[in-house]
Amino acid sequence: MSRLIVYPASADCAATPTLDTADGARMASALAGYGVRFEQHPLPANADSIDPPELLQAMATTIDSLKAQFGYQSCDVVKVTPATPNITKARAGFLAEHIHAEDECRLMIAGGGTFYLHLADEVVQVDVTAGDLISVPAGAMHWFDMGATPTFTALRLFTNPDGWVANFTGDAIALRFNLGDVAAAE
Ligand SMILES: [Fe+2]
Repeated sequence: MSRLIVYPASADCAATPTLDTADGARMASALAGYGVRFEQHPLPANADSIDPPELLQAMATTIDSLKAQFGYQSCDVVKVTPATPNITKARAGFLAEHIHAEDECRLMIAGGGTFYLHLADEVVQVDVTAGDLISVPAGAMHWFDMGATPTFTALRLFTNPDGWVANFTGDAIALRFNLGDVAAAE
């Protein structure tokens, strides 16, 4: 389920949120206030089962529109399942707070995950599912949890795929907000 939850950054995910909504329009409006783009896109009926080249073809109109609007130069497909090699390590890598020199734009095709954005004195949790597009602005501190049983397919849009490198902040804030199974494993 798509959901937006906002916490004070000084708290943790057991704290009372200052905002908690699953309404797509309200999510988009609230996230726009943080400079974060959130959109909900229609998907082909078989989007979760077709191969990446066909998926890119089926989504071409949407992809071309996003490229024209925001200057993305390329798009690829990332697919993750619990059977993906080294998935536990991959999950852990994205769980630490980091920034990128360019936007992190993702359009979920199937499955889901959770983005956490550390914006000023708040932590903004965005649960994304099929059809959700989120663009984490360049320089925004964030982390991503693909969950205990990682399962998602997403389009990734890049202005420069070679520049999409995670620069870790070293702040342990993510440990206070990650899902319970991760905290228990630390
Ligand atoms: Fe990232």
